[in-house]
Amino acid sequence: MEIRTDYLVIGSGIAGLSFALRAAKSGEVAIITKKERMETSTNYAQGGIASVFDPEDSFELHVQDTLKSGDGLCNEQIVRMVIEEGPDRIRELMDIGVNFSRQADNENELDLGREGGHSKRRILHTKDRTGSEVERALLEAVEANSNIRIYEDHMAIDLITQSKMIKRGIITSVSRESCWGAYVLDVKEDQVVTFLSKVTIFASGGAGKIYLYTSNPDIASGDGIAMGYRAGVKVSDMEFVQFHPTCLFHPEAKNFLISEAVRGEGALLLDKKGNRFMEKYHPLKELAFRDVVARSIDLELKKSGDECVYLDISHKDKEFIKDRFPHIYENCLKYQIDITNEPIPVVPAAHYMCGGLLTDANGMTNINNLYAIGEVACTGLHGANRLASNSLLEALVFAKRAAERSVKDLVENHNFPLPEAPMWDSGSARDIEELVVITHNWDEIRRLMWNYVGIVRTNKRLKRAKVRIENIQAEIKEYYWDFTVSRDLLELRNLAMAAELIVACASMRKESRGLHYNLDYLEHDESFGTMDTVVRL
Ligand code: FAD
Ligand code: SIN
Repeated sequence: MEIRTDYLVIGSGIAGLSFALRAAKSGEVAIITKKERMETSTNYAQGGIASVFDPEDSFELHVQDTLKSGDGLCNEQIVRMVIEEGPDRIRELMDIGVNFSRQADNENELDLGREGGHSKRRILHTKDRTGSEVERALLEAVEANSNIRIYEDHMAIDLITQSKMIKRGIITSVSRESCWGAYVLDVKEDQVVTFLSKVTIFASGGAGKIYLYTSNPDIASGDGIAMGYRAGVKVSDMEFVQFHPTCLFHPEAKNFLISEAVRGEGALLLDKKGNRFMEKYHPLKELAFRDVVARSIDLELKKSGDECVYLDISHKDKEFIKDRFPHIYENCLKYQIDITNEPIPVVPAAHYMCGGLLTDANGMTNINNLYAIGEVACTGLHGANRLASNSLLEALVFAKRAAERSVKDLVENHNFPLPEAPMWDSGSARDIEELVVITHNWDEIRRLMWNYVGIVRTNKRLKRAKVRIENIQAEIKEYYWDFTVSRDLLELRNLAMAAELIVACASMRKESRGLHYNLDYLEHDESFGTMDTVVRL
C-alpha cells in the first residue's frame, strides 16, 4: 500500500503537532504515531515551559541560566533565538486554548513556577500536569483541521532515501542525499505501508527506555535517532543523557516523576536519617543544576548503601500542596504515601536526551527535505546539560521555524513532484518463533546501559558496554533480516543503535562536563570543551 502526502510528520507530541498545524496551511499533512496519539512524553510533562513573562525577569537572565546549565557547550546564538522567540510561541498556545495556571489571588496574572538552575520564577505551568494540557489543546486543533490526518499504531521503520532508490535501480545518480518519506509498519493490519512525502519531519521524541530506570513512557526508544543515523544524518552529543534527580521509588510505581517544581516550592532532599545533604555539593542546594543534584544523590546512595533518598515538602501548607501538585499528591497516595505528611522516597532516573540528530537553526538535517524537531534533535540549545523546562520551549520554537522553512522550500521548488519509490520488500522473512529473545536483549541493553553508561562512567565500563552492545547488535541484525518486522523487534533494533551511539559519543569525550561524568577524567579539558561529538554512518 502507498500513501502520498506533502508532509510526513513522525510523532504526535508537542513538536509534531505544532509543526503540523502550521504546515497544514500550505499542504496535506500525515502524522504517524506508533501507539495512541496521546502516548507521548509531552503528555507526561509536569513542571512546565520556561519563558520570560515576569517584568522582573529578562531574556538575558534566562540566556545566562541556560548557558551556565549547558556547561560551556551551548550554541549561544541558538540559545538567544529560542529564548527571545519563546513568549510569542507560548501566546500562540494560549490562543488555541492552553490554560496555564493563574495566581490564586489574581486571575489576570500567570502563576510562574521555579525549577533548578533558574535565577527567576519563569515556568508557565498547568498545576503539575502541563504536558497533558498542552497535548490536549494541540490535538483538538489538529483534529479540527481537514488538511491533517493522524495515523495511530503506525510505526516508521526506515526512511526512503535517494540512495535507497539507487540501490534498487530506480534512479541512477544522486547529487545530495534526499529523503522521500518512510516505510511504516501498520501495527494493527500487520503490513508495511510506503508513505511518500515531499518533506519528512522527525518529531519522534527521546530515548529514555535505553535505561533500566527512566521517567519516560514506553514510546521513547530512540527510533528517530536510529533511523536518522542509518540514513546518514549526523548525530551529535549523545553522551549527554540527562538523569532526573527525583523519580518515585516504589516497587509498583513505573516511571513516575516527582517534578522539580516541588523543589522549586521548597521541598528538601534528605538522607535516610533525615539529614539535608545538598548543601555539601552546591551553593544552590536543592535548586542546583540537574546534573549536579542527580550526581550528588548517586554519590550519597553509593556511600550509604541505601536504596533511595527522600524529598520532603510536608513542612508546607497542606492545602497549598494539594492545590499546586494534585497529580503528584494523588499518585503518591495510591502507594500509601501522603506527601503532605511524610517525605517521598526518590531516586534518579534517565529522563532526557540532550543529543540527537544534528540540525541547523531551522531544524534542517544534512539530508534534503528531512527535518528533526523536539527531543530527537540536537540544536545546540542544551549543550552539556539541559536547563529544566527548556525542552517544551525548544520544540515550539523549532516547529515554527521548520514549518516556515519547509513551506518556503516547497514553494520555491515549484512543489516538486514525488518520485516513484520501491515498495517494501520483506524477502523470505518468516514470523519470529521465540519472542522471548527480544525481551532478553532489551533487558540486557537497559541493564548494561544503567550499570556501565549511567550517571558515573569510566573508560573500562564504556569499553565493556561497547563490546556487549556490538554482540547484541549482531544478533539483532540476524533477526531483522530473517523475521517479519514487529513493533518489538523494530524498537529493539533502534534501542540498540541509540545505545551504541551514546557509548560512541561518551568514549570520544575524554573529560567530565555537564551530564558526562567520567572518573578517569574528573575535570573539564578545554581541548574537548568546545567540541560536539558528531558521528555519522
Ligand atoms: P514526544 O512528546 O515524546 O512525542 C514523540 C512521538 O513520536 C510520539 O507520538 C511517539 O509515538 C512517536 N514516535 C516515536 N517513534 C516513532 C516511530 N518509529 N514511528 C512513529 N511514531 C513514533 N520538558 C519540559 O520542558 N518541561 C517539563 O515540565 C517536562 N516534564 C517532563 C516530564 C516527564 C515525565 C517526561 C518524560 C519528560 C518531561 N519533559 C519536560 C521533557 C519533554 O516532555 C519532552 O522532551 C518533550 O515532550 C518531547 O516532545 P516531542 O514532541 O519531541 O516528543
Ligand atoms: C519536571 O517537572 O521536573 C520536569 C521538567 C523538565 O524535565 O524540564
